[in-house]
Amino acid sequence: MCGIVGYIGHRDAYPIIVKGLQRLEYRGYDSAGIALYDGTDINLSKTKGKVEDLRSKSKSTISLKGSLGIGHTRWATHGVPNDVNSHPHYSNSGDLVIIHNGIIENYGSIKKALTERGYTFTSDTDTEVLVNLIEEVQKTEDVMLGQAVQIALNQVVGAYAIAVFDKKKPDEIVVAKLGSPLAIGIGENEFFIASDASPFIEFTNNAVYLKDEEMAIIRLGKEIKLRKIQNDAVAYPNILELQMNLEEIEKGGYDHFMLKEIYEQPRAILDTYRGRLLADQGLIKMVGIDQHLEKFLNANRIIIVACGTSWHAGLVAEYIFEDLARIPVEVEYASEFRYRNPVITDKDVLIAISQSGETADTLAAIKLAKEKGAFVFGVCNVVGSSIARETDAGAYTHAGPEIGVASTKAFTTQITVLTLLALKLAKEKGEFSESQFHEILTELETIPAKVEKALESNALIEIIADVYKDSPNCLYLGRGYNFPVALEGALKLKEISYIHAEGYPAAEMKHGPIALIDEHMPVIVIATKKGHYEKIVSNIQEIKSRKGKIIAIVTEGDEQVTQLADHVVEIPETSESLSPLVTTIPLQLLSYHIAVMRNCNVDQPRNLAKSVTVE
Ligand code: F6R
Repeated sequence: MCGIVGYIGHRDAYPIIVKGLQRLEYRGYDSAGIALYDGTDINLSKTKGKVEDLRSKSKSTISLKGSLGIGHTRWATHGVPNDVNSHPHYSNSGDLVIIHNGIIENYGSIKKALTERGYTFTSDTDTEVLVNLIEEVQKTEDVMLGQAVQIALNQVVGAYAIAVFDKKKPDEIVVAKLGSPLAIGIGENEFFIASDASPFIEFTNNAVYLKDEEMAIIRLGKEIKLRKIQNDAVAYPNILELQMNLEEIEKGGYDHFMLKEIYEQPRAILDTYRGRLLADQGLIKMVGIDQHLEKFLNANRIIIVACGTSWHAGLVAEYIFEDLARIPVEVEYASEFRYRNPVITDKDVLIAISQSGETADTLAAIKLAKEKGAFVFGVCNVVGSSIARETDAGAYTHAGPEIGVASTKAFTTQITVLTLLALKLAKEKGEFSESQFHEILTELETIPAKVEKALESNALIEIIADVYKDSPNCLYLGRGYNFPVALEGALKLKEISYIHAEGYPAAEMKHGPIALIDEHMPVIVIATKKGHYEKIVSNIQEIKSRKGKIIAIVTEGDEQVTQLADHVVEIPETSESLSPLVTTIPLQLLSYHIAVMRNCNVDQPRNLAKSVTVE
């Protein structure tokens, strides 16, 4: 969590940093700050609140001059969000200034030792401890900043992406990374530093992603050299040419990123299978798998690890892999898996799903599985992310940047990749005849159009949202492939509208949740024709007889559920195994409209951050 931005070069640093921070607000937005070097001194401004608040504050309080600067948007871990705890942080002398994304776990003992040596602290943060540790090393060892950072980092335990500069040496910024992402954009005699490439994409397409335990001294007029933090080994940077463009990361006329991303799904799903799904040739081509097919085919089981929405995509994948490819699957919360001493062997394949590719628990689960000899496959959206690099092989979702904190297109594109993978394995295992295989591939090609059609219900869903926007609770029910969709619908509603919502397998309702049903309880039921339709009809009857309000997602032309439900949203007919890609659309729109009507901050819900790089 937290977003960091830095600049050193020939342009004004302030607008680059502030704009960059706004693009990184998805990573945290409870406070923000900036430090600029104006040629003589450091000007620092920071505040509780959004980057917009920082912009207003800094305009009236500091000089905005300077071509060297660092900025930060925070998601609090140590210390409440307030002005003092915001980054950047000065060292005691006022010479050094730092920004940090991550957690220094042993900051307490370091702080104690520094306090005994006379250091004082104004904030409750671990970051202020780190910058003073660097200063102490600089003084006692009489070394330059780069070396001081290296020595200090060898004393800390935790995770970090840091950028620090020294006003006595204002031609360089020192950066280092362990566990949190850090990219360096390389321009013409200028460098950009950021948690991802979005802050600098309009300036340069050339970027270096630091690996864990790497640091760099970024010096004007010099080429970048990477150094290992533990020793002095020098690595030559792998300069990547980025594919991202600016349009992709702007709102493009939509009120919110979330709405834009919901509407991008037909395109995103298509991009996910483009070049991989060759229906006319009866083929699925996935470079990341072709070389490792045997691992999958000989696996005793597949273990899927993920968090949040990605975990829900994993649950859908469990149905797909078991149903279509007949491979046993277990789906685990990465946070539980990593700590529960799981039985893993080298005959297991672990699939890690993550939009950001930076989720700390998922990364830790991957490391554990690798240690035990499992083959690890990643499904990520962010190219070059830590998970993408840590896994043995993988497939990108190609959804494009997802900025809204609530995941939407990440979910459907993850399911698309996992469906392709399952189908490929099913074909290899001979689970399908050629004609069955061709049929399902052809159907997969119709999904973008079906999603487009589902999006046409937007106006109707807005009307439904208006009826239920003040409900304190909501229940989401689905069966089979659509049970995880019910979980995902409930998660979307609670995270952006703050309404308490629960997802349940429809048949489980009678084992408890039915007690909640009365005339005030809206129940959203996924009741499409394919997949236990008659059973779902019975579940709807049970809700109806207890006066619950039913909002049903039904197949076009449905009559039975339509007669029973208070509201219906029709979606095109789809096979059961592909239906989650379509049924999830109305649920995303419902939560979006309810959140807007409740005046909630849709793209940046309270207490959340887009990538959870802390435990
Ligand atoms: C919910 C949401 C989160 C993420 C979770 C995992 O809308 O966005 O639940 O799905 O934090 O994130 P990734 O997929 O980046 O590992």
